[in-house]
Amino acid sequence: MSHKSARSLITVLVLGVVAFTLFACASPAQPTAPAAAQPTAAAKAPAAAQPTAAQGQAPAASKATVGVILPTKDEPRWLQDQAVFQKAGWEPLFSQGDSAKEKANVEALISQGVKVIIITPQDATAAAAAAKQAKDAGIKVISYDRLIRDTDAVDYYVTFDSKAVGSAWSDYLIQQAGTTKGNPLYIYTGASSDNNAFIFFQGAWEKIQPKIADGTFVIKNSSEAVNLQSKPTLTRDEQAKIIGQTTTNWDFNTAKSLAESNLTKATAADKGTAFVLAPNDGTARAIADAFAADKDVKKYYITGQDAEKASVQYIIDGKQSMTVLKDVRTLAADAVAAANAFVAGKTPDKTTTYNNGKIDVPAKPSPIVTVTKDNVKKALIDSGYYQASDFKGLQ
Ligand code: BGC
Repeated sequence: MSHKSARSLITVLVLGVVAFTLFACASPAQPTAPAAAQPTAAAKAPAAAQPTAAQGQAPAASKATVGVILPTKDEPRWLQDQAVFQKAGWEPLFSQGDSAKEKANVEALISQGVKVIIITPQDATAAAAAAKQAKDAGIKVISYDRLIRDTDAVDYYVTFDSKAVGSAWSDYLIQQAGTTKGNPLYIYTGASSDNNAFIFFQGAWEKIQPKIADGTFVIKNSSEAVNLQSKPTLTRDEQAKIIGQTTTNWDFNTAKSLAESNLTKATAADKGTAFVLAPNDGTARAIADAFAADKDVKKYYITGQDAEKASVQYIIDGKQSMTVLKDVRTLAADAVAAANAFVAGKTPDKTTTYNNGKIDVPAKPSPIVTVTKDNVKKALIDSGYYQASDFKGLQ
């Protein structure tokens, strides 16, 4: 067998295994999981996943290969995605927070002759040049979780419903506040280079703004947010002003120092029972530690996302209030389904589009699940996402 056909055969087998494994793993915790995560989708998998192709009568689709590029190993979320891809037999490349490395990874995949690249940009705008290089080489580009901005070189966007993530944070804090008024609110956001940081914040703002307007919450750590607090919806530039003042840059140390400096400036009356919008689990733990260490903070409620193991333990221990489960098994399965569709010369399913500053990118966002101490077992253990033995004190 020639080198090339051996590689085609491996590709066929890998795509088949990936499709099978990912679809077979689709989370039972998400009854509304999209069609791609259902067993029927596996049955409808394109030719690349069919046994006949593996027997050597490779149809056109089997000639393609697919590469995966993730942004960094330093933000634990991406290790979850890495594990899912690895389990299915793929080894993602990492850009380690460096656009030059990301571009080099794309170039390496181009020279390997891949037909589809699944990529999470580490910087939404900087990644446009690499995406264009791929497009010019005839490769389909799938933006994975984060949208590549300001380019027409993105063919599809595999994502969770990120606006719903932000809404879930605000819903949670609003529920805890109940009918009380004047509750101190501290806002923290993601990296401004990540389009998701804007979508999460938009979802959170649109829900919580009416509760700021009616006096339930009082913003304590952002003069830009205070200036805009009467506006129910914000433009991207307005969001950018608030994010500029509240960003954690998705970094624990930045998050911790910002929270400490906010608390140092705040009076004891600005603390008491604090309500904290934290943008993901890693930063939530860092911010929670800062709030827990302040003697004037008597109690705090804090949000998060990703259902990282360390945060699940924090939730069990009462140190973090909630997280948002984004089942990466579903996301990876969606990415593979989209890649398979492209390889087979088809168009992946879409339910909506996301504007990336240049074009409307087709997408099919996946649902999210709010996790608190009350449903942690059902959402994360019973669903098979984690094992009970991963945690201490789980009831
Ligand atoms: C992802 C989050 C992640 C964050 C930091 C966002 O784009 O959607 O799940 O926590 O990046 O890596």
